[in-house]
Amino acid sequence: MYLTRSEEKALGGEYGEALESAYRVLLAMGRLSDAKRLIPIKWAHVSGVSYLTIGDYGLDFLQRISKIRGTKFKVFTTVNPCGMDIENWDRLEIPPEYAEKQLKIINAYQKLGIASSFTCVPFQSYPVPPKGTHVSWAESSAAIFANSILDIRTNRESAVSALASALTGKTVYSDLHIDKNRKSTFAVRVKLPKEKELKGSVDYGVLGYYSGKHAKGVIEFQGIKAARSLSESKALCAAIGTVGSSGMFKVGRSKGLETIDFTQKEYDETFDEISDSETGDAIVFGCPQMTIEELYELSKGLEGKHFKKKCIVFCSSKVYDLAKSRGYADDIEKAGATFVRDSCADFTPLISSLKVDSVVTDSAKGAHYMKRVHSVKVALKDTETILRENMI
Ligand code: F3S
Repeated sequence: MYLTRSEEKALGGEYGEALESAYRVLLAMGRLSDAKRLIPIKWAHVSGVSYLTIGDYGLDFLQRISKIRGTKFKVFTTVNPCGMDIENWDRLEIPPEYAEKQLKIINAYQKLGIASSFTCVPFQSYPVPPKGTHVSWAESSAAIFANSILDIRTNRESAVSALASALTGKTVYSDLHIDKNRKSTFAVRVKLPKEKELKGSVDYGVLGYYSGKHAKGVIEFQGIKAARSLSESKALCAAIGTVGSSGMFKVGRSKGLETIDFTQKEYDETFDEISDSETGDAIVFGCPQMTIEELYELSKGLEGKHFKKKCIVFCSSKVYDLAKSRGYADDIEKAGATFVRDSCADFTPLISSLKVDSVVTDSAKGAHYMKRVHSVKVALKDTETILRENMI
């Protein structure tokens, strides 16, 4: 892979240990993907923020990097949700020893110069750069959204590679950064009965889960409308990323692609695979974290009623503040729900601490992870049904 003189110097350690390590990561990735060079990026989005996922090893690593003199992120860098509500953790049954480590992780990232985003929907809280801009995003649902909906370019980065990009301001020029690799390679033909129109985050989550599992490369959905709501697009991207390696989808009618069908049979089988409970003892909204539009819809759907069981709503602080200013947050809190800000719906000890056997959620991705991380059963239902069944 071609390196400029200054990249070579950084790789040789002339600009310090942190940059040397970061360039080593990029070089290794470049060799694996047969890339010819590195390219500058405008935005890095880093994952690996929850103590539940990175543990002591990740914490030590970040602390070590952040203590190297002069080490700062070179480009605008946002971070994924962390493992607790940073301000309210003590009121939410988070063990103090866990909180202490989580705060140290946040502190290390802050020393490196992050925007305090703590969100997996960064495109909602910060201005999106022009189409075609190269970025390096580690959160799979956000990366797929970036390529497919925003038309900005990223590969599906790992926590380590996005960190290397944040430190260097560069990424490997490969895969989805290159025009020719952004063409459809695999079709999913949606052939549902006439009366079954895909609608809402559950339907799109099921389609994404099936497609992520069975399709490869750039997925082309055929037989669905190009225009979907933000919530449906978000659910589709999140579910594709949960079980597959694809980093982008399109909607089209190309001929000659390897093709699979998504009929009522595939819908039902996939739904049953995700949803293994009829009901939930608690309600979880916000995987990916809820957007302002979704909070508006939720507040509208409450109709002044009250939740019959524990309901937790995950969103970023920025979105919460906006929802507060518009009155949606107050309506949702008055109905008995608890907001958990800046945290991940699945990778937080909070769900286990609820001590429930099952939860109900509208997210296929949330269902996938909560079953595995917290050993709960999960009922997958759309928001309207959840509200109808769980409010008085
Ligand atoms: Fe976001 Fe965590 Fe779900 S990062 S997409 S809430 S698994």
